[in-house]
Amino acid sequence: MKPLIKWDETLVTGWSFMDDDHVRLIEMVNAVHAASRSGKGDEMIPRLIDELTDYCRTHFGKEETAMRQSRYPLAADHKMQHDLMMVRVAELEKGVAEGNAISASDLVSFLTDWQSDHIRRHDRDLARYLAKRASVGRGI
Ligand SMILES: [Fe+2]
Ligand SMILES: [Fe+2]
Repeated sequence: MKPLIKWDETLVTGWSFMDDDHVRLIEMVNAVHAASRSGKGDEMIPRLIDELTDYCRTHFGKEETAMRQSRYPLAADHKMQHDLMMVRVAELEKGVAEGNAISASDLVSFLTDWQSDHIRRHDRDLARYLAKRASVGRGI
């Protein structure tokens, strides 16, 4: 099993509307990881997927609003990453509804990889752009 996501400075964007949500998702993934180690991870899957659905809607919505309002030039690419994740989460939700077994450790690995990569590349690029605008007095 892959290690937990550890919150460190490579994940910090400096914007609380992003960082607070990222910390929340990492905590969720880490909780399932911990449960998996004691053989109880699979029981947590339906709740995790519910929370992920909610997270995608609200968190991605906040970032996409910031991208629109700031006329972020890489918005289309960033939004595509969000859309792909939402498709994946919708598939997982369907799988759970149909009674398919979803492995907690596979889901933890997938989310760990996705979250780390997405924050480090796409979210931090957006954060830098917003900071640059803020520094010239244009804010978000
Ligand atoms: Fe994002
Ligand atoms: Fe994000």
